[in-house]
Amino acid sequence: MTSRITKRLTELLNDSTASVEEVATVISGDPPAAAQVLRAANSPYYGFHRTISSVRDASCLIGMTTLRTMLRIPQTPSAVSFGDSDRMERVATHSRAVAHAAKIVARRVYFPNRDKVYAAGLLHDIGKFVIASGSAREQSEIDRLIRSYRIPATQAEMLVLGSDHAAIGASVLNQWDLPSSIVEAVRLHHHPTRSENALDLCGIVSLANIIAHRAGLGVAPEVYELDPVLLDYFGLSRASIETMEHQLEDLWPDSEAQLEMSSVR
Ligand SMILES: [Fe+2]
Ligand SMILES: [Fe+2]
Repeated sequence: MTSRITKRLTELLNDSTASVEEVATVISGDPPAAAQVLRAANSPYYGFHRTISSVRDASCLIGMTTLRTMLRIPQTPSAVSFGDSDRMERVATHSRAVAHAAKIVARRVYFPNRDKVYAAGLLHDIGKFVIASGSAREQSEIDRLIRSYRIPATQAEMLVLGSDHAAIGASVLNQWDLPSSIVEAVRLHHHPTRSENALDLCGIVSLANIIAHRAGLGVAPEVYELDPVLLDYFGLSRASIETMEHQLEDLWPDSEAQLEMSSVR
């Protein structure tokens, strides 16, 4: 988890009057914590194998007692260990922006499952957390390539690791039994039209990523071209993308303030 969220969650989990909804709100702001909770809820233990897409539902299903144990224990060796750094905070902030943008796009294109869209947006760059929690030498080499050659993160990651954050993130979430459409949206968030089974979700997350970057809520350089095929598919114009960008800019300060307030009771 990122350090900011760890602090908030610790406060809430130590407070016997805190509700699971309050904890869920904080978890919904942090990609690694959300991934962990979705992983648990989709495990065979609960019998809802790969069907829980909502971070809130997952938190309620698991319950406060397990959340307390699960989110306090150090990561087990089989799990991905997420370190604390400015990088993590930046990626987490960008991920929240994409999650909110994804809900805006979903409303615009009448996609019904807003919780799934939010989760897919929140987790789309989870591979960046995985890479950052691996070898520091490889991460700094990726950063150097991006800076020196002004290439997208995915290209630098391919050169250093032979894979990129989209594929790495999807592979982890697949191993963690997350719903397959979310796995596909993460894997194809830079190439949504390659989707065979979840084009709507992949397209929404991809557009949300572009909208967040245009609104100044991005991280390292990625591929941000608006794909005319995708715009056509959803019946969207470039002007409507701009409108959604302004909608994100308008709601962003309030949504971040709400997350801050969720720990101050
Ligand atoms: Fe990405
Ligand atoms: Fe992104």
